[in-house]
Parts: sequence; structure tokens; C-alpha cells
Amino acid sequence: MVNIISVTKDTVWIGANDRRIALFENLFPLADGVSYNSYLLTDGQTALFDTCDIAVSEQYFENLRAALGDRKLDYLIILHMEPDHCSQIATVAALHPELTLVGNAKTFTMLNQFFPETAGLKRIEVKEGDTLAIGTHTLHFVMAPMVHWPEAMFAYDDATKTLFSADAFGTFGAVDGSIFADEIDFERRYLDEARRYYANIVGKYGMQVQAVLKKAAGLSIETICPLHGPVWRGGNIAWFLDKYDKWSKYEPEDDGIVVIYGSLYGHTASAAAAVAAKLRANTAREVRVYDVSETHSSYLVGEIWRCGTVVLCSPTYNNGIYLPMHALLHDLEALGLKNRRFALAENGTWAPAAGKLMREELAKLKDCVVLEETLTIRSALHAADEERVEAFAKAVLGMQ
Ligand code: FEO
Repeated sequence: MVNIISVTKDTVWIGANDRRIALFENLFPLADGVSYNSYLLTDGQTALFDTCDIAVSEQYFENLRAALGDRKLDYLIILHMEPDHCSQIATVAALHPELTLVGNAKTFTMLNQFFPETAGLKRIEVKEGDTLAIGTHTLHFVMAPMVHWPEAMFAYDDATKTLFSADAFGTFGAVDGSIFADEIDFERRYLDEARRYYANIVGKYGMQVQAVLKKAAGLSIETICPLHGPVWRGGNIAWFLDKYDKWSKYEPEDDGIVVIYGSLYGHTASAAAAVAAKLRANTAREVRVYDVSETHSSYLVGEIWRCGTVVLCSPTYNNGIYLPMHALLHDLEALGLKNRRFALAENGTWAPAAGKLMREELAKLKDCVVLEETLTIRSALHAADEERVEAFAKAVLGMQ
């Protein structure tokens, strides 16, 4: 059944949810699906903003047909060439051979790679500041390189003050009836997933996000239409822009403490629980504990993006770091995490080395502080260790 939602004057959402997808990019678990947003602007001419993932193409084309009615499609504006948005370009072009494709130089390089069959279509190549009139609406193009692909760009409709923002300001999670963030409890429903999406997919490119936020600050924006998740309107925009500003500056959102442990037989898990209890006994700050083997690293990365302080507890494994913990540390380096406080606990029955090795990994991160004292566990903690754990917890809380 057709599912179209009016977004702003002359513009409708024609996207679709995929609630069956297990792994986004075949990497990131999705508990509640994802939406692939696409928008159709209908004025003197018609302009389609991006297509969708192949998984939802049936619903997408049903929506597109209904939204277009008997109008012809004049433009396909390609803001992002990742296949979760571009997969249907060749099909749209085959259905509307009269249309003009709009992108930048990098867009068309990628388009030729993915869809050489579109080479004969009309194209308009745009660059920063170029405009395209669609009847009474004029689109202004804003390049957003490496947010999070090099060809990514935004389009700003000056008639409705709407920013079509590609992946920026998107989130994991399907949309539930309403497409508007101000009509739902975004903080409860989506915020953790929005942060996880940002940190894991865009997190490495904080500098580029900052650059595009500065460009956005020069625009009068009343609506933001991202390619995933809810549309932003009115006063709520400032709240979400502030989140993006913090995330892209690698500033913690709150003073929470996240304790992440690996444990083969439960002894390091027990130590992590003891550390968490001692932390909470000495502070009102929120403490959350995660098993690195149980919780997918994308959630841990999201939590580390939120919190200022991270306690890592790892067994020594083959004279190295416990493998899932090592993978998490690699992830943090790959994503360019900065500006966090770390404390380390290691376990080793005969030669504890994980603390030293984790410290070496953390030295690759910029602007991070690692507590000098490592809590060393020889196989298991016992009552006699309580003072040591208490002192460790207090040292963690005293970190600046
Ligand atoms: Fe949603 Fe970068 O694609």
C-alpha cells in the first residue's frame, strides 16, 4: 500500500522501512530496522532526492508512482552514492529516460562505476554554491565531503528553508507512522541509536562534520530531511545540532562511566562488577557495565562516544589482549576517538600483560588520558583485595 507523508510545501517523503535487516552494512546489528528516506519535490518541475536500498524498492516505487501521478520526473538529485540510497538509480532512469541526473564530479565518477548504463542520460554537474531552480523552489548545493563519503552533498531549498542532508542527522531505527522528530519521543526512542549510527559510521570524520556544521550555521533552516530516520523541524533542530556538534568535537555528552570487560570464566567479570560497585559507592555518576564478548562493538563505541570515562578490564590471552577487547581498541583507533579518560584492569594467572598492551593501543588515540595505576588481578579478586579495588575506583573518579 502507498505510504507517502507530506513534509513541507510541495515536498513529500516517499521512503520505506526495512525491519527485516539484521546487519546494516552487513556489520552493525539493527534491533529495530532502518528507514531509507527519499523525497519528491513537485513544483513547476519535479525533483527526486535519492532513491533507496534494493530491499525496499517495491514499496519505494509504489510510493514514487503515486507521488508523481501523471507528472514526469525532471530531476534526480543524487546527494549520496552509497548503495543504500543509490541502488535504484538505473531503474528510475529506465522508467524516466527523460530525466536529468544532478550530482557533483565525484558523484558522476561513482555513478559510472556502479551504473555505466546511465552514461547516456542528461547530467548537470554542480559544485559548492551552484543553484538549480525547480519552479518557485531554488536548490542551493552545499558540498559535504567525507560526511561520510567524498561525494556527499546537501541541497538547501530556499523556498521552504529545508536542508536535504544526505546521511547527516540520520539514525538507525525504522520510522513509526510519524516521520517528524517533534511528534515522537526522540530521546527515548532514537537517541542511543542516533549516537551509535553517528559514532560508527561518521565518527572518524569529526573535522569534516564540523566544517559542514559551520556551513549550515549560515543557512536559515526550518526543516532537515536526512536519508535515515526522522525529519527535523523547528526548535528541535537546535537540540540535535548541539548533539552533532558535541559528537563531532569528540566531547563527551555526559559524565557517565562505562566499564567494559572481557572474561573467559567469570573472574574478570566479577572484578568489573566489584569496580563498578566501588565506583557507584563513591559517586552519583552513572555507571554502566558491558561484556565485550556479549555486546556488539558498535554499541560499545556508541557508549564510549557518550561517556567521558572508560574502564577496560581484560584478561591476558596468549600473552596478548583478550581478542574482542583488542578488536574494540582497534575500532576506537580506526574511528579516531579523542578526548576520553581511560582506566585499565588486567587479569593474568601467570604473566599479566594486558594492561601494558592496552596502554600501548590507547597511546594511538589523541587527547586521551590513561590512569597510571593498573588494577592487576592474579586469576581472581578476593576479600583481601577490597582496599585495592576501592583505591582504584577512587583514582578513576579523581581523573581529570
Ligand atoms: Fe545511508 Fe552512507 O549511506
